[in-house]
Amino acid sequence: MKPKIIVARPIFDDVLARLREHFDVTDNQADTPWTKASWTKALSQHVGALTTGSDPVDADVLQACTHLKAVANMAVGYNNFDVPAMTAQGVQASNTPDVLTETTADFGFALLMATARRITESEHYLRRGEWTQWRYDMFAGAEVHGSTIGILGMGRIGQGIARRAAHGFGMKVIYHNRSRLSAEAEAECKASYVSKETLLQTADHVMLVVPYSPASHHTIGAAELAQMKPTATLINIARGGIVDDAALAVALREKRIAAAGLDVFEGEPQVHPDLLTVPNVVLTPHIASASIPTRRAMANLAADNLISYFTQGKSLTPLNSVSA
Ligand code: DGY
Repeated sequence: MKPKIIVARPIFDDVLARLREHFDVTDNQADTPWTKASWTKALSQHVGALTTGSDPVDADVLQACTHLKAVANMAVGYNNFDVPAMTAQGVQASNTPDVLTETTADFGFALLMATARRITESEHYLRRGEWTQWRYDMFAGAEVHGSTIGILGMGRIGQGIARRAAHGFGMKVIYHNRSRLSAEAEAECKASYVSKETLLQTADHVMLVVPYSPASHHTIGAAELAQMKPTATLINIARGGIVDDAALAVALREKRIAAAGLDVFEGEPQVHPDLLTVPNVVLTPHIASASIPTRRAMANLAADNLISYFTQGKSLTPLNSVSA
């Protein structure tokens, strides 16, 4: 009898086929949306699951899932998991670190460029047929090369962005993080550690890469936006809830900061309606890790985490320690 697992959302066919060699798999290739109740009921009938960052495995869900043994998140972020509750129930939690670092850093930089140089705003103008002649100030934006980037959260992705900024664009890199990097890592990223206040007050471009937790909720709200330069841009590739989206919409509308680029939103896939009506914001639907090779690597690592747990007793990239 193969262990019964559920794959919560559509996934590459070949990854699914590989999982079927080891497991009795319930798939959702039709992408039928879950309610919390339908997801909980489905999960409770399986011992393993491959989830995305949108599928909750919290204390309420776990209460109903007494047979559950392992959940592999196809994401590096895991704020959809209650890891202490999973550990208490003996459920192995895993995520997909490393495989998406460089792709996500690429995207952070792409969003910064699009935001500072007003790429989507100007494309919409062109598509509307409003472009009649060249003007000296038409969609003139902020400088990227040679400017100062402030990176809030200096984990693997933050360091990837810092390397691109320092070595590719000659930017001055300042960062703030819970813990300071080693001197060697700072030298490699050409990055200087500063307080959060200095970062907000000094950076031309503020890049958010902090993980979400109750402690990082609204890391950027009205007070922090007020500290930023009026010419600054804010980029969020971290998680919805790190920024107070309502306060950001006000700051953008009142030009208290120049522009923002957002890949993640509070309550996504809903987007705060005011963000949809301000022109100086670039909005993307949580796609920072979405290159095909990287999404394949994430899916394969999540699958390997389940296979490894059920064959070896431990996932390859576990978030907790449990006895099988
Ligand atoms: C991640 O890996 O955390 C990305 O945000 C995709 O969910």
